[in-house]
Amino acid sequence: MGDVEGVDRASWWQTARFGMFIHFGLPTVLERGIWAQYWEHIPRDEYAALKGSFNPQSCDPAEWVRLARDSGMKYMVLTVRNHDGFCLFDTATTDFNSVASPFGRDLVREFVEACRAAGMRTGLYFSLMNWRHPGCLQRRAEQYRAPAFYERLVEETHEQIRELTCNYGKVDVLWFDCMRPDDPAIWRSEEMMAMVRRNQPSILVNDRAGVPGDFGTPENEAVPQSRPWEACFTMTDTWGSAPGDRNWKTSRELVTLLMSCAARSGNLLLNLPPGADGRFPREGVDRLREIGKWLRTNGEAIYGTLSAPIGHSLNIIGPGQGWATMRGSSIYMAAIRWQGATFRFAWLKNRVLSARVLGADCEVRVEQKGDRVWLHGLPEHPPDPLLPVLAIRVEGRPERIEPGDFLIL
Ligand code: GLC
Repeated sequence: MGDVEGVDRASWWQTARFGMFIHFGLPTVLERGIWAQYWEHIPRDEYAALKGSFNPQSCDPAEWVRLARDSGMKYMVLTVRNHDGFCLFDTATTDFNSVASPFGRDLVREFVEACRAAGMRTGLYFSLMNWRHPGCLQRRAEQYRAPAFYERLVEETHEQIRELTCNYGKVDVLWFDCMRPDDPAIWRSEEMMAMVRRNQPSILVNDRAGVPGDFGTPENEAVPQSRPWEACFTMTDTWGSAPGDRNWKTSRELVTLLMSCAARSGNLLLNLPPGADGRFPREGVDRLREIGKWLRTNGEAIYGTLSAPIGHSLNIIGPGQGWATMRGSSIYMAAIRWQGATFRFAWLKNRVLSARVLGADCEVRVEQKGDRVWLHGLPEHPPDPLLPVLAIRVEGRPERIEPGDFLIL
C-alpha cells in the first residue's frame, strides 16, 4: 500500500478487524465442501447438471447480514464465483449462473443490497481458477498450454469482473483467489486491476490476482505480515458446507484467534458456509452469537486497535501473559491464563496509571516496580467465560523494554 491514497482507502478496513467469509454456490448442493468436484473427480458435464438442483429458496442475505452484524463483524465477503465457475450473479458471459438456475435469483444483488441497508461493508470473492475451462488445473508452468488457449477464459473473467464492478454500485473489497494458471501475464492482471480501480476507485483488492494488491491473506494461520493483512479461517476444516465435518472450533478458540490477529495488527475473516437450503448451521450460529456477546463487552480491545509493543515476549513470540492490543495510551491485555486476584506482567516501559477489568465491577489497585506490574483486587475466577480482558491506562504511548535488556535478568 504505502501511498496516502491507499492508506485512506484502507482506513475503515484497518479498524474493522473482524469480517465474515461466506462460501456458497453450486458446490453447496453436494454439501461436501467447495472442492468436491475435484476431490471426487466429477466429470464437467455431470457436475454442470447440478445446476438443475440449485434452488436454496430459504436463503436470505438480509438474515446473513443480521447475524454478521450481531456477531460484531464489520464487513462480509461472499464467494460470488468459486472454482467451479458457477456465478451467483447475472452475467451475459455464461448461463452457468444462479439466475439461469431454478433458483432464478441474482444473489450478488440481494447480498450487496442487504449489506448496504445494514451499513455493512461489502466484499466479493472471485476465484480466477475456473474448472469449466479445461487446463485450469495445470500447476507447473511447463505444463501450461500456449497462452492463446486461455484467451476465452481470460476474456470471460475480465468481463465478469467488469460486470461485478459496474453493475452493483459501490463494492468495498474484491477478494481474488486461486490464480491457475499461476501467471499474471496470462491473466493480464495489471490491465484487470486498472479496470477495477477505474470502476471502483475506493475498492480494496487482496493479493491473489498476480499483483500485490492492498493486503495480504494468510490462510488458516494468523501469521503477521509487514503490510495490512487479514487471516481467513474456517470454523471447521472445510470452506464450503460439509455437515459431515464436525470439527468445530470452540467459541473460546475463535475469540482468542480474533484477539491474536488484532494483537498483531491484523484482521480475521471468519468463514461460515450456509447449507444447501441457504441457512447457516446451528453450530456456527451459536458460536457467532457467543463471539458477538463477548465483543459487546470487550470490543474496545479489538476495533481500531493495533499491536501493543509491551515486551518482546508479547505478541511476537506468542501471547506471554496474554494477547495485547493498544489504542492511544490504553493497552488491552486478553488474559489467556487467569492468575486469580493478582495479575502480573512485565516488559512495559511506561508508568501504569490505572486498570479495569472489562465487564467486571471491581477496583483494581496497581503496584509497579520498574517494568514489573501487579494488578491487585481482581476477581478470583476469570470474569469472562471466553477470554477476560484487562484495560490498562499508561502514561504516554506504550513502549516496551527492548529485547536487549532481557539479558541482564
Ligand atoms: C483455499 C481454498 C478455497 C478457499 C480459499 C479461501 O484457497 O482452496 O476454496 O476459497 O482457500 O482462502
